[in-house]
Amino acid sequence: MHILAISGSLRAVSSNTNLLHALAGLAPSNHTIHIFGGLADLPAFNPDIDTAPGPDAVERFREELRASRGVIFSTPEYAHGVPGSLKNALDWVVGSGELVDKPVAMFNASPRSTYALASLTETLSVMSTRIITEAGTTIQLMGRNLDAEGIAADPELSRALTAGLEAFTRAIEAQMSIAEPGPP
Ligand SMILES: Cc1cc2nc3c(=O)[nH]c(=O)nc-3n(C[C@H](O)[C@H](O)[C@H](O)COP(=O)(O)O)c2cc1C
Repeated sequence: MHILAISGSLRAVSSNTNLLHALAGLAPSNHTIHIFGGLADLPAFNPDIDTAPGPDAVERFREELRASRGVIFSTPEYAHGVPGSLKNALDWVVGSGELVDKPVAMFNASPRSTYALASLTETLSVMSTRIITEAGTTIQLMGRNLDAEGIAADPELSRALTAGLEAFTRAIEAQMSIAEPGPP
């Protein structure tokens, strides 16, 4: 199963991006997690250029969403909200609909980011994604200075991430078996 992961942070040493890289490394071989790398390339959303096809960077983003079975987010909180770069990316697919019915999960590198989590939940709900609540996973990385390898090597953190990923893929597989039932 191919999963797209989107970090809301553009920082080179982002704890949220490190979390997603750790998750990708922990994924079993039947699942691939690709970290979206184009957040900073997306132009500021403008309905006047929200066309089909849209700007190249937007089309690449839309294609990566279409190619994924599910999307995992991990975002910091900025000023009690979601970083503008992440909200901007989401605005680009409100009209085109790549996230409609898409299973999504919210991971989180800081238990303090409650406003961002609530805001992202609201946005993803109104965009008609399928939020897999039980897969949502919060770990504490703030101030710990851990890279992806360090996160994956920590038994408690890796256990929490693996459990979240398993809940996510299980929910997607259950949905797929309902949508595509096998022979009677
Ligand atoms: C401009 C700015 C605003 C922030 N606002 C909040 C906030 O409202 N609440 C909070 O808990 N943390 C806030 N933070 C702290 C970040 O959420 C925190 O440093 C986070 O771990 C950064 O994530 P990253 O390591 O993935 O970049 C803010 C940081 C910045 C730079």
